[in-house]
Order: sequence, then structure tokens, then C-alpha cells
Amino acid sequence: MALPKSVKIVEVGPRDGLQNEKQTIATATKIQLINQLSEAGLSYIEAGSFVNPKWVPQMADSAEVFGGATRKVGVTYAALTPNLQGFERALAAHVDEVAIFAAASEAFSQKNINCSIAESLTRFTALMDAAQRHNIPVRGYISCVVGCPYSGAVEPETVAQIARDLLAMGCYEISLGDTIGIGTAGQVKRLIEFLMQDIPVEKLAVHMHDTYGQALANIYAALECGVSVVDSSVAGLGGCPYAAGASGNVATEDVIYLLNGLGIDHGVDLEKLIAAGNSICEYLGKTNGSKVAQAITRKYQA
Ligand code: HMG
Ligand code: MG
Repeated sequence: MALPKSVKIVEVGPRDGLQNEKQTIATATKIQLINQLSEAGLSYIEAGSFVNPKWVPQMADSAEVFGGATRKVGVTYAALTPNLQGFERALAAHVDEVAIFAAASEAFSQKNINCSIAESLTRFTALMDAAQRHNIPVRGYISCVVGCPYSGAVEPETVAQIARDLLAMGCYEISLGDTIGIGTAGQVKRLIEFLMQDIPVEKLAVHMHDTYGQALANIYAALECGVSVVDSSVAGLGGCPYAAGASGNVATEDVIYLLNGLGIDHGVDLEKLIAAGNSICEYLGKTNGSKVAQAITRKYQA
């Protein structure tokens, strides 16, 4: 299949990127990051989550973050919501969209959302009904699509079954999460080709963490299958609180550089994006996790 002509980037830095940071991050800093990302041309920003703040304290101020961020026209400001309670909080914060998340591994489902896969799908029904009533689109994540930190390899058929269930309950898109960044391009290609037997590729997105340094290769494999929605995190921030050692998502800057090289449209200004990544990394006292950002920043400093 030909590579897509354009790719939509789902910027998950403010949520997936920051959720695992131990230090307190000022609400104003989160808002500034979101505004810088929208100014850089990102059209979809997952800006926070409405989960139990006891479990993920960093996201406790998501309502204030949504309230304070400049809502740029044409940008979707989305939140992660695990249940009806999360959805109602998200609705009160005037989110544009929500995302629900299931896992393709029982062990991860228990650790992450404290219930079985089947229970999580049942729990989503009330949320989906409410979302439909309020005309809020719902995106579906599946975690651990190639491997689980607790139980090992995951079969494509398991992922396919959950993807079908999430689509049947009304999700408009399924984001395939390699939560622990363990997958390889061959596995990703096989998984997507398997899913494409009964799911249109337009309904699939990829969400690659970069623990083993394979994320860009995996994204390229997905693009070759026709996938045109890619999740990424500015400066490669992040990790999952329930997947010890898992690194951040692929860095958005690195994905943009890849897409530039392939002549694929994306609408993002790389320089502004690098500035956004550098400023949040400076705040966090971290090295920017994007190799592209590092290289370009060095070039300007030389
Ligand atoms: P639970 O403890 O089983 O929930 O948590 P519960 O329904 O029994 O309620 C217990 C308490 O939680 C109650 O409060 C509820 O009110 C409260 P208490 O009476 O004890 O004071 N509660 C809530 N509070 C605020 N907002 C809510 C909410 N729901 C219940 N929405 C729950 C179940 C799912 C809520 C919990 O396990 C949770 O919040 N987990 C957090 C999961 C999380 O955020 N994980 C990280 C994101 S997922 C990810 O990173 C993967 C992804 O990036 C894709 C990939 O990489 O693969 C998406
Ligand atoms: Mg993730």
C-alpha cells in the first residue's frame, strides 16, 4: 500500500508525557505547553485526563488546565476518561473529545484500571451512552498490543477482538498502544495487516512508546500499511505509571522529521515545536528526548 499523503498527529505530551512526572508541575506550565503546541500547528492535543487523582496525581488539575488553555479554532482538545465519573468531569471542563482505554492483557488491565478487560468494556457502556447524548466523539486506546510488562506476548487476535468491541460500542478510531515499546516493525506490520482483514485502516492509529528505540521504525511500518494517524509526545516525554521502565512515546519532533523526509503533510512547524519541547524540558530539568530537537538546537547554538 502507498504511504499516506498526510498524517494527523495526536499530541499526547500534556497527558501521556506529563502523567508520570513525579515533581509537581504548575498548572500554568501545563497550559503554556498546550498553547505552544497549538501555536506550533498541532491540531489534536490530548491535554489531560480525568482519572482517580489518587492513582495519577499529576493529572489532578486537568479541569483547570482545560479551563486555562487558549482554545485555538481548528484544534481538538481531548481528555482521557476511564469511566462515567471521568466523563462527567471532562464534560464540565468543556473537552472536545474523550478517549477510553482498554488493555489487550488481563494483567495490565488489572494494574492500570483495577478491573478485567471484560469489566472495563462493560464499564465503558455508560460512558459511551453519555458521550453520544452530548455529541462527544470517543477515541479508543488498546494498550499492550504486542506485549505486556506482566504477562509477555500478546496475540493479534486478542487485539482484534477488543478493537471490534470498542468500534461496536461507538469509538470512531482505535489507537494501538505499544505501551512498553517492545514491538518491532515486523510485529507491527503483521498486527495491522491482521486487523485490516475486518477493520478499515482509516480507523486505526498507532501509539508507540520508544523503550527499545523501535518507535520510528514501527511508525514507518504502520505508514506503509496505510495508517495515517500517529500519536506522539513532544520531547519524547512520558512513560506509563503502570509499566515500570517504559519510556515516553516517540518524540513528536522525530515523527515530524520523518514525515518531512517522506514528503507527507502534517501541518506542524518543527521549529516552534522544538521550542515548546525545550521549554518544558528546561522546566522539568530534563534533557530533551527528541534526537531531532537535540541536533537542531545544537546547530543553532554552534
Ligand atoms: P477504582 O479504584 O477501581 O474505582 O479505580 P472505583 O470506581 O472503585 O472508585 C474508587 C474511588 O475512585 C472513588 O473515590 C471514586 O470516586 C474515585 P473514593 O470513594 O475512594 O474517595 N474515582 C474517580 N475519581 C476521579 N475521577 C474518576 C474516578 N473514578 C473513580 N474518573 C479507575 C478505577 C479507572 C478510576 C482507576 O483505576 C484509575 O483512575 N486509574 C488510572 C489509570 C491511568 O490513568 N493510567 C494511565 C493512563 S493509561 C496509559 O497511559 C496508556 C495509554 O497511553 C496507551 C498506551 O500507551 O498503551 C492510554
Ligand atoms: Mg501511552
